[in-house]
Amino acid sequence: MSAQLIKGTEIRNVILDELKKEVQDMKAKHGVVPGLVTILVGQNPASISYVTLKIQTAEGLGFHEIQDNQPENISENDLLALIDKYNKDPKIHGILVQLPLPKHISEKKVLNAIDPDKDVDGFHPVNVGRLMIGGDEVRYPPCTPAGIQELIVRSGTETKGAEVVVVGRSNIVGKPIAIMMAQKGKGANSTVTIVHTGTKDLASHCKRADILIVAAGVPGLVKPEWIKPGSTVIDVGVNRIGVNEKGKAILRGDVDFDAAKEIAGKITPVPGGVGPMTITMLMKNTVKSAWLHIKGNV
Ligand code: GUN
Repeated sequence: MSAQLIKGTEIRNVILDELKKEVQDMKAKHGVVPGLVTILVGQNPASISYVTLKIQTAEGLGFHEIQDNQPENISENDLLALIDKYNKDPKIHGILVQLPLPKHISEKKVLNAIDPDKDVDGFHPVNVGRLMIGGDEVRYPPCTPAGIQELIVRSGTETKGAEVVVVGRSNIVGKPIAIMMAQKGKGANSTVTIVHTGTKDLASHCKRADILIVAAGVPGLVKPEWIKPGSTVIDVGVNRIGVNEKGKAILRGDVDFDAAKEIAGKITPVPGGVGPMTITMLMKNTVKSAWLHIKGNV
C-alpha cells in the first residue's frame, strides 16, 4: 500500500490564505501592515533565490517589504549599523539576515544584534531560550521546525505519546524540533529521541519511530527497512544530486522515498514537502510580530 503524501505546497497555500486575511484585518482595524526586511550580503545564487521567494511571498500577502542588498565586502560594523537602523524602524516588524555570511563577518555577532522582538527567524539566543521554556514564552519558533510541526498536525498524525525520532542535531532543525515535540501541548507531548553521527545503531532507533523526522543532509541515508510500517515520515533533506538536461538541480531527500512510501503511513515528498513550509512560517512569525508590536507586547 502506498503512503498518504503530506503535500507541503497545499498546506502552504491554506496557511498563506489564512495569513492574507489576517493582514487585511490588521490593516483595516489598525492601519498597519507587517513589515519585513531581508538583508542579503553578496551574490550567493542560492541565497538570491531564497530571498527573492521570501520577498515575493511577503508582497503577495500585502506586507511592507524591503529587500536590502549589500556588497560582499561590507564591513561587519556597517552591517551591525544597518541592523540597528531596522531595529529602530517602527514600520519593520521582522528582520532577516540571509545566511551564510561572508567569512569576514561573525554570524554570531550579527544574529545577536537583531532585536529579539523582531527576530522572525527565531535564531537569537533569547528566542532559543524562550523555545526551550515552551508554552506562552515561545515567541518566534524557528521556521523549518515550525513548518514540520504544522505538517504533522495538519496531516492528522497523533503526537501525544508518540515515539518521535529526530535524525540530526543542528541548531536550525534537529535540536529545536526535538524540543518542540517534547513540550506539553497541542501537536507535541511526544517521547523524543535525537540520533546523530555519534549514535551506535541508527537503524534500531528509527525502527521504533511513530514519527521519523530526518534532517541529516545525507541523500538516501534512511533505508526502507528502518521505517516502522504505518509511521509518519518527515524528510527535511534537500540534497542537490546533479542537474537535469534543462540545467535544473535534481533534488533528493534523506530518505529513500520510492521504497519508503510503500511502508510508511504518511510521508513528505522532496521537493514539495517541508521546503515550502519554511517561508510560510517566516510570514506567520512576521504577522505575529506585527500584532505584538501593535498591542505593545514587546
Ligand atoms: N539560509 C538558509 N536558510 C535560512 C533561514 O531559514 N534563515 C536565514 N536567515 N538564512 C538562511
